[in-house]
Amino acid sequence: MDIAILETGYVGLVTGACLAEIGHNVYCQDCDKEKIERLKNGKIPIYEPYLERLVIENKKKRRLFFTDSLKEAICSSVVVFICVGTPPLENGEADLSAIERVTREIAHYSESYKLIIEKSTVPVQTGLWVERTFKIYRLKEIDFDVASNPEFLREGQAVFDFLHPDRIVIGVQSKRAEELLREIYRPIIDRSFNCPIHKECPENEPIPLIVTDIKSAELIKHASNSFLATKISFINAISDICEKTGANIKDVAYGMGLDRRIGKDFLNAGIGFGGFCFPKDLKAFIKISEKCGYDFRLLKEVERINEGRVFLVIEKLKNGLWILKDKTIGILGLSFKPNTDDIRLSPSLKICRLLLKEGAKIRAYDPKAVERAKRELKSQQITYCSSPYEVAKGADALVLCTEWEEFKDLNWKKIKSLMLYPFILDGRNMLEKQKMKDLGFEYVGMGI
Ligand code: UDX
Repeated sequence: MDIAILETGYVGLVTGACLAEIGHNVYCQDCDKEKIERLKNGKIPIYEPYLERLVIENKKKRRLFFTDSLKEAICSSVVVFICVGTPPLENGEADLSAIERVTREIAHYSESYKLIIEKSTVPVQTGLWVERTFKIYRLKEIDFDVASNPEFLREGQAVFDFLHPDRIVIGVQSKRAEELLREIYRPIIDRSFNCPIHKECPENEPIPLIVTDIKSAELIKHASNSFLATKISFINAISDICEKTGANIKDVAYGMGLDRRIGKDFLNAGIGFGGFCFPKDLKAFIKISEKCGYDFRLLKEVERINEGRVFLVIEKLKNGLWILKDKTIGILGLSFKPNTDDIRLSPSLKICRLLLKEGAKIRAYDPKAVERAKRELKSQQITYCSSPYEVAKGADALVLCTEWEEFKDLNWKKIKSLMLYPFILDGRNMLEKQKMKDLGFEYVGMGI
């Protein structure tokens, strides 16, 4: 099937490459001409495991094309996935201006039936506006459908999540739209495609396909992300109680997670959630709920708990070092989570900003995100390092902010010898407390 992807960001590029991988002809469009040129030359603008391989292989098979022309992408396709960004406005509402703009463009260029699919995360009822906008701006009385097909892609695992999802959700209002979406995802649902990456695929049960109305599909996305964020803030609150009572959050979370109704995932206490999904989806969901007449106080508390985590880190550092002014603090990890170079709303960067306000000096390292961090956080007081050992040189304390696998097996004895004072704040409870203490570190965790 001929498919257009409008705007080739994190979601659009993964969606386009994976749809090409399962056999479709995909036209990825973006207004950023430079980005498109780089993609045409096989240069991927983001770090996402396996993505480069899928892009290059499918470009070679002439199933994946890149263009800066909306007209070319739209006129080459029956199905158009809207994958534009929906960043938060000042008041927390989702900025839907890009959705509205591309909908007008699709209406303008469409000369035959189109299925317009919301892939971007949008507040419930957005589909109504897309339908209304298309009707107003279409140049001919052509048939069209609107559908919602939310993504559940975790950065760093997005290719796996697309090709091996827990479920596929489609919100439709016509049989034709439903059939088209079934055809698009058939190779994934019945696992008939030969996955080039994850040979040891999970059990070959068919993937559940949820067919519902557009509003319910839109709501599934916001509700899912908000629930996951709630789970994280809940375990962070429990970790604070563990600290006040001398309990161990790792054991508590383990004991909770064995209950299959709770599940072990997303029970890792730490410095909180970041990224361009949870924080903005929470704000947008709270706002759209207010608009619908519901005051989502639970989610406001989830947000409050999360926003407080980085201040707790500063408090812990002060408890260990007293004054932070003129102290040198080493930061291990800048991305908002491991296996990505994405620093958007990263708790690590918030901690750096708070440390700078305290007058501290920072030495920072990240396996993938240093270049992005350098552009985001410019300060004479920050030294960007090329290794954790360089970070440790002369540091009064280290803060582990992102649980990159490589931090687990560092030569901590050497790290200690390089530091001015062996204080480590393990913001993700990644390290073994007793082992670190046996090495002579003053070890502080989050609920441990
Ligand atoms: C999330 C959702 O998981 C995904 O389904 C949705 O499509 C997009 O948003 P992502 O933001 O890429 O994915 O990362 P995720 O792995 O969910 O982690 C989000 C944040 O929560 C990270 O900052 C991570 O460090 C934090 N986190 C996650 C915790 O603090 N504790 C946990 O137990 C899990």
